[in-house]
Amino acid sequence: MAERVEVLIPKEKVLKRVDELAEQIMKDYDGQELYMVCVLKGGIFFMVDLARKIKGDVLFDFMIVSSYGSGTTSSGHIKIKKDLDGNIEGKNVLIVEDIIDSGNTLCQLRKFLLGRNPASLKICTILDKPSRREVEVPVDYIGFEIPDEFVIGYGLDYDQRYRNLDYIGVLRFDD
Ligand code: IMP
Ligand code: MG
Repeated sequence: MAERVEVLIPKEKVLKRVDELAEQIMKDYDGQELYMVCVLKGGIFFMVDLARKIKGDVLFDFMIVSSYGSGTTSSGHIKIKKDLDGNIEGKNVLIVEDIIDSGNTLCQLRKFLLGRNPASLKICTILDKPSRREVEVPVDYIGFEIPDEFVIGYGLDYDQRYRNLDYIGVLRFDD
């Protein structure tokens, strides 16, 4: 089967939206220090682009949680493969994600981090597939709502490939 990539959201549109989200975040946090938690590996480009548009104190930390294997369906439970380096107690934590699909990953990650008593905990995602939601998650900042399609690029992968695309695409399989 041949794989083909269709552009869903071009680079310029992604970056423009990231700028808007950064503006909104700066307004909401009003100069308070922000503790950004990137969910690796998918959130990496979004975290970097977003963080450099935010003026003020921003701390970086990273987590790896298990999500999809080599397929395209949800695994249900998460496993913490890499925990935070720092202590988030009393911090204003912002989780930075690539996409919210079933919501399982974020729902569990949120509970896990709330257990460490941050001053606040918000969620920011570049993509949201609301039609796929299985569990409720409060999402504070959303880049784009997209239909139920498997997307790649701007950090998102299919079997670890395509993360490096600077736009968001839909993967098509032709036979
Ligand atoms: P959830 O737990 O079902 O919300 O899945 C969240 C994770 O699944 C995301 O952080 C992605 O790593 C992965 N994922 C969900 N949908 C897609 C997609 O369309 N393309 C690539 N990865 C996806
Ligand atoms: Mg992810």
